[in-house]
Amino acid sequence: MAQVRISPSILSADFSRLGAEIEALDKAGADFIHIDVMDGHYVPNITIGPPIVKALRKHTKLPFDVHLMISPVDPFLEAFAAAGADGITVHPEAGPHIHRTLQHIRALGKRPGIVLNPGTPIDHIDPVLDLVDLVLIMTVNPGFGGQSFIYSQLKKIEAAAERIAKSGRHIDLEVDGGVNAQTVQQVKDAGADLLVAGTAVFSGGPERYAANIAALRG
Ligand code: DX5
Ligand code: ZN
Repeated sequence: MAQVRISPSILSADFSRLGAEIEALDKAGADFIHIDVMDGHYVPNITIGPPIVKALRKHTKLPFDVHLMISPVDPFLEAFAAAGADGITVHPEAGPHIHRTLQHIRALGKRPGIVLNPGTPIDHIDPVLDLVDLVLIMTVNPGFGGQSFIYSQLKKIEAAAERIAKSGRHIDLEVDGGVNAQTVQQVKDAGADLLVAGTAVFSGGPERYAANIAALRG
């Protein structure tokens, strides 16, 4: 299998100097920048909105992998697209209409992604697999960085990989939550090709980002 790509989650960055953090990740060899958007309603935490995404856009040419944990999601798609998102990934539970939401993201010229929480069955991807460029499997419950990896989700990663292979389309299989030196090999073995990591990338400060990213890539 081709080398996995790394999408550092800026949830673990120093929020007082996000521009410099993104430049450091770019220099350290990140493939994407993962931006966790939370609304204090769909998840019990509040992070960043479109103006910050727009402000960050000029700090790197790396694609922005925007993970929306907001409900409702539809009224904000255009704003995130205009702010510079490249991929926009949405939770079916954030609703109300996942099929419509994914069509809307495509119509905005962005890469649509669907994300499944640990308690959400894999079958949710079946009716919309033809609409997505990315499937994201959560290996923690969404809302916070630094949580422990939920091992029961490895089977769901495998099931997603099977469905993607059967589809015959190129669809990224991303994993988010608790990915670190202890868990990364199992995540890769299960078939993931795009890894989100917050804690594991940012630990040790900017001098360590390149080594941390390289260690996850393996
Ligand atoms: C959780 C977020 C993750 C999180 C990952 O809701 O979607 O992207 O930042 O952080 P770590 O790698 O620390 O589990
Ligand atoms: Zn995320």
